Amino acid sequence: MTDRLLLPMRFANGTVAPNRVWVAPMTNKQSHEDGRLSDAELIWLERRARGGFGVIESCATHVTESGQGWPGQWGIYSDLHTPGWRRAAERMQSHGSMLFAQLFHGGERAHRAQGRAIVSCVSSGTPGRDDEVRQLTPAQIEALIEAFADAACRAADAGLDGVELHGAHGYLLCQFLRADLNTRTDGWGGDLPGRARLLRRVMQTIRQQVPASFVVGVRLSAENGTFLTGLDLDESLQTAQWLCDDGADFIHVSLWDAHLNCSKRADVHPARVFRDALPEAVPVITAGQIWTRAHAHQQLDHGADAVALGRAAITTPNWPQQVVRDGKEPLMPPVSAQQLRDRDLSETFVTYMKRWPGFVHTDDGGRPAK
Ligand SMILES: Cc1cc2nc3c(=O)[nH]c(=O)nc-3n(C[C@H](O)[C@H](O)[C@H](O)COP(=O)(O)O)c2cc1C
Repeated sequence: MTDRLLLPMRFANGTVAPNRVWVAPMTNKQSHEDGRLSDAELIWLERRARGGFGVIESCATHVTESGQGWPGQWGIYSDLHTPGWRRAAERMQSHGSMLFAQLFHGGERAHRAQGRAIVSCVSSGTPGRDDEVRQLTPAQIEALIEAFADAACRAADAGLDGVELHGAHGYLLCQFLRADLNTRTDGWGGDLPGRARLLRRVMQTIRQQVPASFVVGVRLSAENGTFLTGLDLDESLQTAQWLCDDGADFIHVSLWDAHLNCSKRADVHPARVFRDALPEAVPVITAGQIWTRAHAHQQLDHGADAVALGRAAITTPNWPQQVVRDGKEPLMPPVSAQQLRDRDLSETFVTYMKRWPGFVHTDDGGRPAK
């Protein structure tokens, strides 16, 4: 009998994913300086498509040049990037996978490059200093909404299957959602309708401009985390409900540790509260420390419709085949740099992974687990 993780999954717009195992969005710094796709980025993703992942999410990709988060980021802010996205979509689809671009703006956490204005929902920093953060004007917010929509149209034109709005982890769209940060009084902040307005307008605008079969989803952080404040579970649920009204085809809940129940409601799992709060037609995806088949099944039992794998997709590029279909164990960290190279990570990506505690052997340059 086919494992339920390998069964097709329908998005709210009727488009169907081949299975319920996704590669989570993962930044890897492998792209060219001008944001064009590099062979290294394509090779690492294609290996996961060959390995049977139904949906491959790109790393966070910036929708404006100044929204870039870090050097080596794959960009989607210019038509210069379209040929790379087309190439990537064709490659993933040739293996039966879908490709989604994760649309991103760094906001106050954008990469500081010379001459670049750093913007967010509110201003902060010392006026006149390089790291000053400027408050976006209403006109600039409207321009930003158009930039997100242009990026989504670019993804659709390049033949991708969909996009995910990066509304999680404290970047620009999430900065607007944060109650402790977004104190604007002009309708783009303050109460929840004000704080959720940017994300909703981005969703509505994209939905109007892309074909109906093109999947548009959103990633949210459900609650506060180690480096994230100003979020509340009930507000996140309300925001997710509004986004479904606005045309979201899926809601991706980023948990970091999907084995934990909600902080606010310790008796219930986040997948369950999101599943119960949202229309049945809108799939809920969860991510965070999902390593084994049993872990993934637990998420489905809690109410998730699909799982997104981060580090397990790095160590075990054919996870859907090896772990789900064949019932074998994934490769668990710490791993060696050579094992990562064997799994089609370039030297740049291997170096980046050494910064993740406990992931690469310490005698191989990795940081010890905390
Ligand atoms: C190397 C690396 C890069 C990541 N980059 C992104 C990113 O670009 N966008 C995003 O939403 N999450 C990013 N994440 C978070 C993952 O998508 C995922 O939610 C997180 O790693 C938890 O899943 P895991 O325990 O399966 O790794 C990244 C994680 C890793 C390990």
